[in-house]
Amino acid sequence: METKESTILKKNENTFPQTPYYLIDESKILNIMKRIQYLREKSGVRAVLALKCFSTWPVFSLMNQYMDGTTSSSVYEARLGFEEFGKEVHAYAAAFSENDIADVKKISDKIIFNSISQLKTFHDEVKGLEIGLRVNPQVSFSHYDIADPAKRYSRLGEKDYESILAVQDLINGVMFHYNCENDDIENFTATLDKISEKFSDLLYKLNWVSLGGGISFTSDDYPVDVFAAKLSEFSKKFDVQVYLEPGEASVLECAQLVTQVLDIVHNEKDIAIVNASIGAHKVDDLVYRSEAFIEAHAENGDYEYIIAGNSCLAGDIFGHYKFKTPLKVGDVVNIENAASYTMVSKNWFNGLRMPAIAIKRIDGAIDVVQRSGYQDFKKSLG
Ligand SMILES: Cc1ncc(COP(=O)(O)O)c(C=O)c1O
Repeated sequence: METKESTILKKNENTFPQTPYYLIDESKILNIMKRIQYLREKSGVRAVLALKCFSTWPVFSLMNQYMDGTTSSSVYEARLGFEEFGKEVHAYAAAFSENDIADVKKISDKIIFNSISQLKTFHDEVKGLEIGLRVNPQVSFSHYDIADPAKRYSRLGEKDYESILAVQDLINGVMFHYNCENDDIENFTATLDKISEKFSDLLYKLNWVSLGGGISFTSDDYPVDVFAAKLSEFSKKFDVQVYLEPGEASVLECAQLVTQVLDIVHNEKDIAIVNASIGAHKVDDLVYRSEAFIEAHAENGDYEYIIAGNSCLAGDIFGHYKFKTPLKVGDVVNIENAASYTMVSKNWFNGLRMPAIAIKRIDGAIDVVQRSGYQDFKKSLG
């Protein structure tokens, strides 16, 4: 599918925008795409990009050469996948409205319902499409309670096996999303074995099974051949097409948030305030209370700073760092890991300047694909 050139503000300009901006490195994305391609070839799985994690569509024309399509959490994401990525469109939502179904059914190959009640309500309306049900396998891997889909009272997927078996004739596939940043192949293997055993009667009757996202298979030291063998064994055993829905693994370490120091204040420690905010421009780190990674800090120098954001939130802090040289006003501070769950969740908190989005293309050209200004802030509120 073609990128809409008209909406790319400045093409091949070879200059960076003013800070703050997100900088996506296409060469890094390509490197990850080759890892995904390798897994697909070795295991027969199909990989659909989880748009909830990364939706910056001006790089989709690169990604769609190596992936099989997209999966979504809403009608708008499904539509973006359909318009800009192409290939397979999987539509899922925690709950669809009637209007949602009318919209997604026109553009989706698969509709995955989160509950048996939604499956029954909308089944007749989406007949002819591949229909799936999300199952909560009651096993999961997550370092964070907030991201654990199998936690107590979870609304994400059905867990009562008898009730699921009772509607098996209405579905061709199921989705289990039960991992978050799972880098432990032994855990993955053991958990998949449990799922295979518990749900075997159902699995033998299906055409496809999605194992969701949350598996760190594109990381450098991940045993990808063992992973591929396990997926292919599962697929052969049940004669199903296996899907993965990588979000973070598709764009791991592929972007930075480029900021500049606006001021340095002191309160027991030196605090450098940069022209971006964790709450507005790197929300995930705030939600998970994780420290943002700053490359210069890895040098473990003698100059300690708290890097803080420019909003009014007292907790707007990227983290504590040790730099090799002292910071001064105007210095550039690159905040790493800014591809996954960042651009999709940026917001206008405090009316702060919105970071532009720039892409370093494989040939080195810089495309600034998004710039927002005061009018966009105003328009978002009235
Ligand atoms: C259903 C589903 N699929 C895929 C993903 C992508 O997960 P990740 O970005 O951890 O790979 C998520 C994330 O929450 C999800 O809920």
